[in-house]
Amino acid sequence: MQLTLHKTRDTLHEIRDTKMNIGFLASHNGSNMQAIIDACKAGRLQATPACIISNNPDSGALARAKAESIPYYHLSSKTHPSEEALDQAILSALTRHQVDIVILAGYMKKIGPRTLQHFSGAILNIHPALLPRFGGKGMYGMNVHEAVIAAGEKESGPSVHLVNEEYDAGPVIAQIRVPVLPDDTPDTLAARVLKKEHDLFSDVLQKIAQGVITIPGYRGNINS
Ligand code: GRF
Repeated sequence: MQLTLHKTRDTLHEIRDTKMNIGFLASHNGSNMQAIIDACKAGRLQATPACIISNNPDSGALARAKAESIPYYHLSSKTHPSEEALDQAILSALTRHQVDIVILAGYMKKIGPRTLQHFSGAILNIHPALLPRFGGKGMYGMNVHEAVIAAGEKESGPSVHLVNEEYDAGPVIAQIRVPVLPDDTPDTLAARVLKKEHDLFSDVLQKIAQGVITIPGYRGNINS
């Protein structure tokens, strides 16, 4: 990451001769985050993993951050008991690393209003079902796949969507469909969907980097 010259905030994109900077928020395993990091390393995604934030100090996501030598932070109600202070600490970490796009990769907490406002239109989440169905409060982890099977759905699959104040309610950007098989358990369905999540997230990000998909909060690096 190189900054050739500091002028004003407005010209930052024009003078930055670099790739899109990604900041991650993750609570658990971080396999989606890892897939994106791997895509960056392999050159399939023209982006830089800039920093990783987790509310869980023992998360796989932070272990992966260490292994990849990517700057990381444990920021939670333990480190910042006040919600406002936590929101500000998360925002400060993201701006310190000049993050362009924020990725929620299995992040189990709500984003605070300051961070949401600053990165409005530039925060993406992945959800393991075909939104707008099977989303919202309580729809996380195996609950989602249990609900899909209980509803007798023939198809499921991951959705990437923009994040707003409501859980899983921002505009859907892309989805992949996979079959729900007659003998599926929540575990087998989750594994089939997760495999596609890994492809979908990197693919969407590369399309954003190339300007093939546009999101309101990222206009690209003009020189790239
Ligand atoms: C994924 O299923 C994702 O859809 C959901 O949380 C899970 C995160 O998995 N939002 P991982 O931590 O990326 O392995």
